[in-house]
Amino acid sequence: MTPGVQPIRVAVLGAGTVGAEVADRLLTRAAEFESRVGAPLVLAGVAVRDLDAPRTPALPRELLTTDAESLVLGAHIVVELIGGVDRARELVLLALESGADVVTGNKALLATHGPELFAAAERVGAQLNYEASVGGAIPIIRPLRDSLAGDDVQRILGIVNGTTNFVLDRMDAHGDSFEDALATATELGYAEADPTGDVSGLDAAHKAAILAGLAFHTTVPLSSVPVEGIERVTAEQVAAGRGTGHVVKLLAICERLTGPDGVEGVSARVHPALLPRDHPLASVRGANNAIFVQASDARDLMFYGAGAGGPETSSAVLGDLVAAARRHVIGGPGLAAAPSSGLPVLDPGVVSSRYQISLVVRDEPGVLAAVAGLVADLGVSIETAQQTRSGVGGTATLVIGTHRAPEAALAAVVRALSGAAEVEQVAGVLRVEGDRPKDG
Ligand code: NDP
Ligand code: HSE
Repeated sequence: MTPGVQPIRVAVLGAGTVGAEVADRLLTRAAEFESRVGAPLVLAGVAVRDLDAPRTPALPRELLTTDAESLVLGAHIVVELIGGVDRARELVLLALESGADVVTGNKALLATHGPELFAAAERVGAQLNYEASVGGAIPIIRPLRDSLAGDDVQRILGIVNGTTNFVLDRMDAHGDSFEDALATATELGYAEADPTGDVSGLDAAHKAAILAGLAFHTTVPLSSVPVEGIERVTAEQVAAGRGTGHVVKLLAICERLTGPDGVEGVSARVHPALLPRDHPLASVRGANNAIFVQASDARDLMFYGAGAGGPETSSAVLGDLVAAARRHVIGGPGLAAAPSSGLPVLDPGVVSSRYQISLVVRDEPGVLAAVAGLVADLGVSIETAQQTRSGVGGTATLVIGTHRAPEAALAAVVRALSGAAEVEQVAGVLRVEGDRPKDG
């Protein structure tokens, strides 16, 4: 150790999937971290709820504590890996207010209380690093915050939830129903026992809010992110997508756009979408994640890798920890993260897309013309129409592909189709994203 250099005390909160791996590496790779930081990183303790719960990897019993507050107050850097929102918020605020730097992988916390936490960090000149919060092992926060700070990010399309990507990939590759694919994901350990937050799109919405705020230097509240999950995606929609050269993916979409009144703003949303099979994101298989970024000068960039997993996520957490520790050695304040552009979040109705609308219609003369007329009357232009006779009760399946139209127009079309005498059922709507060159 360099003479005069003080050891840096690190508190790890949580010893679950990620926390146990982070604590283990701090113990087993201490010499490496010391040489990279220029001072020893000392694991001061690990806060847990149950001192006797089995841990993988195993951690020395004497490092475990249920007194998270005392551990936080004695640390230079606090690594929050307990998850959840309320208790995590209390402990992160306590850490920041006591002058400690914080590293977290908690997207739910950042998406709901980010502005409060960043303000607290800025007030005391502390760092709040969160690389693991989006995309697990994939470096995406630092590239957006630092590497692209001199560019204008225009659009992000992200596959940011591994569970849903695994399920949709199964549906695509094996023709499985949503239920069967989810059962396989659970059996193989890709889905959690309660996968609601993943399949509903909420987890991806947390990540979309974080990415959009960072990319566009503004505040994007979680409540402004429209979310649609994958629960209603059918095997038929996935098969129809295959037929037209598309694959269904759950996308987090963040974009900078100009509303109809000329107001510049941003949008962040999460929904399943049809992507052309030659789009870079279409090749993201299984539980992997990828984030496709389009910037004015850098143009197209893709960040790909493991979006979850203990060792994988520990890589991102430890990178943040080493960066925070170096600042302790070098000195200087934390990096200001205050939103600077003030771009508003635009009304979701102004966002435009192409749509694939699946209808069950009466198989009678004039139905196609009636449906086409109704859609055209609402200002939406049809690009393709494909009818298949179902043979069930004199009905047919009609799949309409539209040109680009605003969400508000789509909502009006769906309402009108639902009330039309010729239409038995609006079976589903999927957005179509990622066309080239216009859509990226
Ligand atoms: P786990 O559920 O596996 O572990 C949580 C840990 O926190 C457990 O050790 C638990 O203690 C402890 N804990 C929970 N509440 C408290 C409390 N009030 N006081 C003290 N300790 C507490 O979570 P993960 O490791 O999977 O995730 C941690 C964070 O990382 C989350 O924010 C998650 O979103 C994020 N993340 C996780 C990824 C992953 O692959 N798992 C990927 C990217 C981010 P005990 O063991 O005693 O119950
Ligand atoms: N449940 C998340 C996923 C873990 O399936 O991607 C990483 O945030």
